[in-house]
Amino acid sequence: MPTHKETEKGVSELLQLLFEKHHLSLSSYEKILRERTKEEEELARSLARECTEKHYGRGVYTRGLIEFTNFCKNNCHYCGIQRDNGEVERYRLSKEEILSCCEEGYRLGFRTFVMQGGEDPYFTDERIVDIVSAIRKAYPDCAITLSIGEKSGESYEKYFKAGVNRYLLRHETADEAHYQYLHPKELSWKKRMRCLKELKEIGFQVGCGFMVGSPGQTVKTLAKDLYFIQEFQPDMCGIGPFIPQHATKFAKEKAGSLGETLFLLALLRLIKPNLLLPATTALGTIDEHGRELGILSGANVLMPNLSPKEVRKKYLLYDNKICTGDESAQCKADLEKKMKAIGAELLVDRGDARKEKESESKRNRRTCCQREK
Ligand code: 5AD
Repeated sequence: MPTHKETEKGVSELLQLLFEKHHLSLSSYEKILRERTKEEEELARSLARECTEKHYGRGVYTRGLIEFTNFCKNNCHYCGIQRDNGEVERYRLSKEEILSCCEEGYRLGFRTFVMQGGEDPYFTDERIVDIVSAIRKAYPDCAITLSIGEKSGESYEKYFKAGVNRYLLRHETADEAHYQYLHPKELSWKKRMRCLKELKEIGFQVGCGFMVGSPGQTVKTLAKDLYFIQEFQPDMCGIGPFIPQHATKFAKEKAGSLGETLFLLALLRLIKPNLLLPATTALGTIDEHGRELGILSGANVLMPNLSPKEVRKKYLLYDNKICTGDESAQCKADLEKKMKAIGAELLVDRGDARKEKESESKRNRRTCCQREK
């Protein structure tokens, strides 16, 4: 329920309140999303920038992304590597290839490796554990992130014990009916939510996230996304614009916009000041300066690609994806230049979330709730 005070506020005041308290009601999020003007978008972005600088300074964390398999048993309606897309040339990297991506990454200064792939049954728990253990042994000072979809709690436990620190599993949407619209019927929103809860309980640093402007998304579903993130308190949140892929059911749908993505990045920063918030490749794809603008709107993470050049063009979740022809060193050098141009700096660091300043968000939440009573 909104507090009495909240219902009377205009959008600018709500943004200011979010900046101070990091907490709003579902209906206030709806109001912000429905009524905000261009000036209020700017206000949100500048408050978010201030908030990021307070917590993280001008440093931007980097993670080396290894897209190690594009086989997938699922048929998500939006995704270019869905099982039934016959145009995709499928590939898997071997353990040796994955380790040499890490080697190259380490040399380039990356201290987090993100292993991302489709839900590929070839990569059994045994194989994943074997690979992850080898990375853990070779790079004890690095963080390992997995992003391989929905698994059982037991599987997640095994990965954790093998040395995985973080897990990315976008929730895609916090609205069950919308989830069903985006996915075939064998996939379930409840299961996805259960996975996220289990990952957190096991002790992973957890990342969720969603696409901006996905088909069927409304102010109501987006407000639920924001409210979900406020309640779930993930360590990371990956958002980027939806971009149609020509061979999918959503080929003719409109892409998500730059402005809306930047606004949502800003809101997420205000909801959780120490959130790890990437400026994604999708954002860099819809606009040449998308990632820089993302950083200037509250994002503080970049995930350049470490996959071998030969496989890059095969991992196309959407059309026109950038960086598919570059060497890893090239991707990193380009980003370094782009960041320098906006006064930000790429960090060589594991890039864990900073502790919340004086536990400010919890303390504020307590005062908020007390007032609601
Ligand atoms: N446009 C933008 N993002 C996409 N993803 C998948 N397909 C697309 C697309 N067409 C995102 C999903 C998924 C993540 C790996 O990439 O949110 O969780």
